Parts: sequence; C-alpha cells; structure tokens
Amino acid sequence: MDFMARALELADRALGRVSPNPAVGAVLVRDGLIVGEGFTQPPGQAHAEIVALTAAGPRARGAEMYVTLEPCCHVGRTPPCTEAIIAAGVSAVHIAVPDPYPQVNGQGINALQRAGIAVTVGAHRGEAERLNAAFFHFVRTGRPLVTAKWAMSADGKVATRLRDSRWVTSPAARRAVHRERDASDAIIVGIGTVLADDPALTVRLEEGDAQRAPRPCPPLRVVLDSQARMPPTARMLQDGEGPVLVYVTAHAPADRVRALAEAGAEVIPTRSVEGRPDPGAVLADLARRGAIRVLLEAGPTLMGAFLDHQLIDRVMAFIAPRLVGGASALSPVGGEGIAHMRAALPLVDVSVCQIGPDVLMEGRLSWEPAAGGSSPEE
Ligand SMILES: NC(=O)c1ccc[n+]([C@@H]2O[C@H](COP(=O)([O-])OP(=O)(O)OC[C@H]3O[C@@H](n4cnc5c(N)ncnc54)[C@H](OP(=O)(O)O)[C@@H]3O)[C@@H](O)[C@H]2O)c1
Ligand SMILES: [Zn+2]
Repeated sequence: MDFMARALELADRALGRVSPNPAVGAVLVRDGLIVGEGFTQPPGQAHAEIVALTAAGPRARGAEMYVTLEPCCHVGRTPPCTEAIIAAGVSAVHIAVPDPYPQVNGQGINALQRAGIAVTVGAHRGEAERLNAAFFHFVRTGRPLVTAKWAMSADGKVATRLRDSRWVTSPAARRAVHRERDASDAIIVGIGTVLADDPALTVRLEEGDAQRAPRPCPPLRVVLDSQARMPPTARMLQDGEGPVLVYVTAHAPADRVRALAEAGAEVIPTRSVEGRPDPGAVLADLARRGAIRVLLEAGPTLMGAFLDHQLIDRVMAFIAPRLVGGASALSPVGGEGIAHMRAALPLVDVSVCQIGPDVLMEGRLSWEPAAGGSSPEE
C-alpha cells in the first residue's frame, strides 16, 4: 500500500476546514499495517500527527509515520508535534514536503533527526504542494490564493446577449464546482452577477462525492458592491445558509447599507480604487478573517479588475461544446487586458480533463517575471 497516498487522501478531508492552517494527513504504520491515522482538526485543535498518535496509542512505538507536511516544532496554538512524535517512540518519519512557514522550515526535520529518528523527504511532493497550494501561497505572499472559475461555450461566451447564463455546462461539471467550493474558504462575485442570477453560492454535494470532514462554517459568500445595490431580498440573504459579506465604498447610500445589514449581511466599507472596492483590500480583509483559499466566480467586469490587479493565481476554465455567438454576448474576463498577444499571460502546470461532455482546463498564473519576458501592462 502507498501510505503517503493514503495520508494525502486524509489531508484532503481537512481542506476548507482548517484555514489559515495547512490541511495535513498522517498515517502510522507498524509491520506493514496502519495502526493510526488522522487529519488536521479546526484551528486550535489537534494537528494530524497528534490525531494519528492518539489513535495508535502504545502501537506508535517503533512505528513509521507518513505525513504530508513537515511536523511543526514551535508552540503555536497547540504544542509542537515533533515532541509528541519523539515521546511516542516513532522510529521513522516520511515527509512529503517541508513546511515553508519560517518558524518550522527544516527545523521540524532537524528536531526529529537530533532525536535519532530516520527522516525522508519528498514522496508525492508535487501532490502535497498542490493540495496545500493556498497555504504555500499565503506564507509566501501574505495573500489568499485566488482561483478564477468560469464556464464558457466553445466560442468563449459566459452569457448570451440577453445575459442569460443558466446553464453553460453540464450537471457533471457543475458538480465539480461544488467540490471546489467545498475546499474553499470564501466565494467572491460582483454585484452584476447577483443582479443577473441571484446565486446562492452554497456548497451542494451529492451522494458519491468524496466526503470531507464537517465544516465549522460554510465558505464566506462575498459580494463586491460599490453602491450597496444588492437587494435585501437576494437569495443569499434569505436562505440562512451562512455569512454574507458585502464590500462597499464610502459613497454607498446609508439607507441601502442599513437595509442590507438589517437583512443579515455584514457590510464592510472598503478603500476604493476608481470608485469601486479595491480587490487587494478585500483580499487583505478576507485573509484577516483566516480565508486563504478563495474562489472567484464573478462575471467579466470583476474578473477583469482582479486580472488587471494581478490578483488571479489559478484558473479553472470549464468549456462546453456549444456555440452561443453574438458580438455583445459576454466573455469570461473583461477589464483592460493585455495589448499584444506576445505578452499574453501563460498558464503553467496546465491540466486538461473531460467532465461529462465538457472540458476543464486548469492552470496557474505565474506573476514572477519570465526570463526576458515582458510585463503584463504591455
Ligand atoms: N458563465 C459564468 O461562468 C458566469 C459567472 C458569473 C457571471 N456570469 C454572467 O455575467 C454577467 C454579469 O457580468 P458582470 O460583469 O456584470 O458581473 P460581475 O463582474 O460579477 O459584477 C460586476 C460589478 O461588480 C461591481 N464591482 C465592485 N467592485 C468592483 C471592482 N473593483 N471592479 C469591477 N467591478 C466591481 C461593479 O458594480 P458597481 O460599480 O455597482 O459596484 C460591476 O459592475 C451575468 O450575465 C452573469 O450571468 C457568468
Ligand atoms: Zn503540528
């Protein structure tokens, strides 16, 4: 059995439940058999290693641990995992990837080795980095990882000339979106999408979807709405399915702000750029609330603003084998955009898969300047 693959499966169960902490899985193996396993519990509660050690009890002595991220060696909200691993008498620790967090980064490995534990690093490293991409990004930049998701026709339209968009893709593709929402800490749209579609932005999983742990709270539903135009009757405010944050500017009329607050929204006045909430300021506020993995499901106007601000880190483009046409029908990303095709922003680590009749193209945007490359403003 591939025990690190099992540990990764466990880690996935914690995604969207433990931010701003990483989602980690751990497996303890003795004589080829799993004697304990676990994944990260919500912030302030046990790390994956502790859950696995507790499950194994005395069987942890002499066992080998497979863990998807370097064990912590500092006192955070919980005591260091390295000490618990050493005290339990674990003989070897296999780590998929070092923890980039400055207070750990290599020091967890050192602490284990100093105690005479054999340590290996790197099994399934790429998958472990992908699983915790948001955590790695957050540690590096201080910002949440933003995934822009859209569903378009083969001719690149996200809505018809009448602004109709239900539905572009098949139920199978939409199911994949709900899995992604379930891994996210927040979902963002612009007021244009709320007025056109009145979306619920809830997580609706189906039987047969791989189940994650119960969530302490649903993903934050976030609307950027300069003038507080969101109707208090919007579905999101009526369904009681969890928090709704509306970011407005200082110029939003007070009576509309009050009506939204009375309808249950948390209305947040935000620094503006060109009269609209600054996407960077919104992300900073979301990070302060512990959100590190954000799904941007906006229409072209807000997508374009995020791209122009270089705030899209990952793309999930669903492409349906249908044509819509229409010069005034909408394409996924507006804003100012890139002037010359040679300066178009490349996606890296691209994967393509078919979901029912539709195609999903995923990739990362790399904002680090390419060698000899050109700036995105070009
Ligand atoms: N197929 C898909 O994947 C998909 C997904 C989403 C939407 N859609 C379709 O897209 C259409 C709506 O497009 P849209 O572009 O109006 O939606 P949007 O991008 O979600 O909302 C745009 C509005 O957001 C507000 N906003 C707040 N802060 C902003 C900022 N910093 N930069 C830019 N805008 C900001 C602006 O209104 P204020 O100036 O009043 O604040 C703006 O008009 C609908 O037809 C919908 O069905 C399709
Ligand atoms: Zn720990």
